[in-house]
Amino acid sequence: MQALQPPAAAPGVTLVLGAGGGLGAALVQALTSRGETVIALGRQTQPALDYRDAASLACCARHVSDQLAQLGQPLVRVLVTTGFLHGRLPGGEAAMPERSWEQLDAAVLGHSFLINAIGPAMVIKHVLPLLPRHGRCVAAFLSARVGSVSDNQLGGWYGYRASKAALNQLVHTAAIELNRRNHSAICVVLHPGTVDTDLSRPFAKTGLKVRAPDVAAAELLAVVDGLTPAQSGGFWDQHGAPVPW
Ligand SMILES: NC(=O)c1ccc[n+]([C@@H]2O[C@H](COP(=O)([O-])OP(=O)(O)OC[C@H]3O[C@@H](n4cnc5c(N)ncnc54)[C@H](OP(=O)(O)O)[C@@H]3O)[C@@H](O)[C@H]2O)c1
Repeated sequence: MQALQPPAAAPGVTLVLGAGGGLGAALVQALTSRGETVIALGRQTQPALDYRDAASLACCARHVSDQLAQLGQPLVRVLVTTGFLHGRLPGGEAAMPERSWEQLDAAVLGHSFLINAIGPAMVIKHVLPLLPRHGRCVAAFLSARVGSVSDNQLGGWYGYRASKAALNQLVHTAAIELNRRNHSAICVVLHPGTVDTDLSRPFAKTGLKVRAPDVAAAELLAVVDGLTPAQSGGFWDQHGAPVPW
């Protein structure tokens, strides 16, 4: 007689936000090639995730909730890969990171905070409640080492540094609240290292160790999958080492 097998645990779904970016797309590719179920959302998806549209987060969260119900699986990873360092503002003006306080501009600062901190805060509000109340699950937000205050020896990049520092505080705070709902849940900020994407390309210096997005995605997934609940609330790099606040 064949031994009865316990039902296999539902493998779970990963949500990737910012799926059209260099790292977001590489993470979606890495997970789907492992056979995992991924919900990928970004500005070009349906529904669209666009932090400039306050209603878009609630709409995306409803979509994710419906998809999870249809799949009958829990949400086990949320990977937030959105970010802004340079590019066009909503009004079309070009923005580059500041080299000096003389270049500080309220519109650029506002956009940096919107994409790097306020948008992810709305992800915390609308998406973290979709995580299960029992069992291991991970919410990982891509930050940047330059958001570390104690590591800042060079100055410059005011808006990016400050908005990533704000993200770090928001995620650390959310980790405390998440832990009250589920002691096995993990919520972290991650530094992905320097990766060859649109975001980093104008600043690539010779001698700097720049990795391809697929290499960085594999490293990040290894870190995400190795994190323990005791590491929740922390700031970790692509090797799983702590980054100072
Ligand atoms: N590349 C590096 O060397 C490096 C180093 C340190 C930290 N990081 C961090 O890693 C993350 C990923 O960066 P990346 O290198 O992949 O950059 P990227 O290719 O420029 O991607 C930018 C990301 O931001 C999202 N985004 C931009 N504007 C948005 C908006 N209005 N609403 C919602 N999402 C918006 C894009 O999503 P869609 O295109 O899907 O809409 C995309 O996922 C960022 O947080 C970045 O700060 C990168």
